[in-house]
Amino acid sequence: MTRTVAVFSLGGAPGVTSVGMALAAVWPGESPGLLVEADPAGGAVAVWRRVPTEPGLTSLAAATRGGGGADPDQHTQALPGGLLVCPAPVTGDPAEGAVRLLGRQPLELGAVSAPVVVLDLGRLTASSPARALVPAADHTVLVVSERLTDLRRAREHLLAPSFPTRDLRIVVSGGRGGVGQIVGALGTAVWGRIPDDLRSAEFLRGERDLARPQRRPLFRAAGRLARALAESVPVPASEPERHAVHAPLPPGVRA
Ligand SMILES: Nc1ncnc2c1ncn2[C@@H]1O[C@H](COP(=O)(O)OP(=O)(O)OP(=O)(O)O)[C@@H](O)[C@H]1O
Ligand SMILES: [Mg+2]
Repeated sequence: MTRTVAVFSLGGAPGVTSVGMALAAVWPGESPGLLVEADPAGGAVAVWRRVPTEPGLTSLAAATRGGGGADPDQHTQALPGGLLVCPAPVTGDPAEGAVRLLGRQPLELGAVSAPVVVLDLGRLTASSPARALVPAADHTVLVVSERLTDLRRAREHLLAPSFPTRDLRIVVSGGRGGVGQIVGALGTAVWGRIPDDLRSAEFLRGERDLARPQRRPLFRAAGRLARALAESVPVPASEPERHAVHAPLPPGVRA
């Protein structure tokens, strides 16, 4: 059964698309994962990898119209190396329209041929149409930078009852070193860091080749995250989890 992972931010472009692509690329298994770019603000993949936006999110959303169910496998493209992508329109209006349409019907992803579907939901505001896709996910991954403003914002959102927390992992993107202080600020849902790795970021953007990407820090960290998710048992939809933020903010990290 295909696993579904929703990856999103609260703003500030911390690296959602990069983490999502890397996660789908290194997911355990023989066949490549699928990245569905369901970002209402518009996609990056078509520009980064110079691929058309069709087949992609727009054709997938159109196929769900009428409620007959769509086969997501019909709306993907394979990038060199094998990663499957369902790219979003580049600009906001058509992307938002496609995400809104996709969210009108329950998204059936369990029968997709890829071992994982990573949903790139972009910046998940309270009014984002991508919110409707969160119930399709077995796991949620919030990507934050370690900027104080990002951490403060994340803390406020985590305290909100409506914040999606299905098997939540908080991933710190960029920087380097331990995340102890951030665990102190945001709680035990903090999984760890996907470190700064300019070469891998360029590779994901299609701007450079890498002989062994799996040896680079970004992909190694994404591999650890992928294994942690693949080994965890999905929480049934009827049992929502809450990750309360109990810890006080450590010195230097003020709310
Ligand atoms: N670990 C990293 N090391 C270095 N650069 C990175 C890393 N992760 C992402 N980047 C770079 O940071 C920029 C933003 O990343 P990305 O587009 O993945 O973020 P995003 O959260 O999806 O942004 P948006 O909200 O615009 O969709 C890109 O240029 C990307 O290549
Ligand atoms: Mg993005």
